Amino acid sequence: MNAIEIRGLKKYYGKVKAVDGLDLTVPTGVVFGLLGPNGSGKTTLIKVLCHLLKPDSGVAEVLGIPVKGRSYLPRIGYMPQEIALYEDMTVHDNLKLFAGIYGLDRVTFKRREKEVLTTIDLLERKDFPLSDLSGGQKHRISLAVSMIHEPEILFLDEPTVGVDPLLRAVFWKNFHDLKKKGVTIIMSTHYMDEARNCDIIGMMRAGKLIDEGSPDEILKRTGKDNLEDAFLDIVKRGASS
Ligand SMILES: Nc1ncnc2c1ncn2[C@@H]1O[C@H](COP(=O)(O)OP(=O)(O)O)[C@@H](O)[C@H]1O
Ligand SMILES: [Mg+2]
Repeated sequence: MNAIEIRGLKKYYGKVKAVDGLDLTVPTGVVFGLLGPNGSGKTTLIKVLCHLLKPDSGVAEVLGIPVKGRSYLPRIGYMPQEIALYEDMTVHDNLKLFAGIYGLDRVTFKRREKEVLTTIDLLERKDFPLSDLSGGQKHRISLAVSMIHEPEILFLDEPTVGVDPLLRAVFWKNFHDLKKKGVTIIMSTHYMDEARNCDIIGMMRAGKLIDEGSPDEILKRTGKDNLEDAFLDIVKRGASS
């Protein structure tokens, strides 16, 4: 079974066609990078797949389940583009709150809290209020929250924006470790160097998927030696066709 199946998906905000007839299949267990300029519809697409926005039309399934239902939600994790944590609560209480939403029991939570905080190397900050942490540390907590319940699919909306190169490397190590465990990762980015690390890239423009493939496939197809030039080439061809 594929992790994601989308056919003819549309989501408009009034006249703004944020997602405009998008087709996409993401196999299970890959790191999938959604690439595209600001306003191309990445966040809207991710929100539809996480049941946060209702699509106008088309088919969208996550883990074989239509997104209009909620039954798949405990099996996915979501890291929003804007950090959505409680500043006046401790790291522990933030994690506990989200674990509660996902229905984790006390024993599982205790185990997972230690695991995720160790993964992001912030175990010693457990009892600090969020407001005492740096921006990068909050980013790491946001990632920890999204995976506290061991989801099968992780949706990460620009998880490394504003993140320094060292921390980015930490994030990527986490992504590769999760992938080894069979987790599917769907992340949006507009960093081309980051896209290079994905198994499959989907290039978005104006609410549509304009190209898709492994980074090597895309480079070969366009005859370019870097993804930035490949993307510009694909956009240009899309505009003239
Ligand atoms: N809540 C909203 N109301 C109206 N327009 C929106 C809203 N959210 C996003 N948009 C518009 O939809 C388009 C796609 O936005 P978005 O999905 O955020 O793209 P991306 O994540 O690729 O930057 C943009 O034109 C944006 O301005
Ligand atoms: Mg966005």
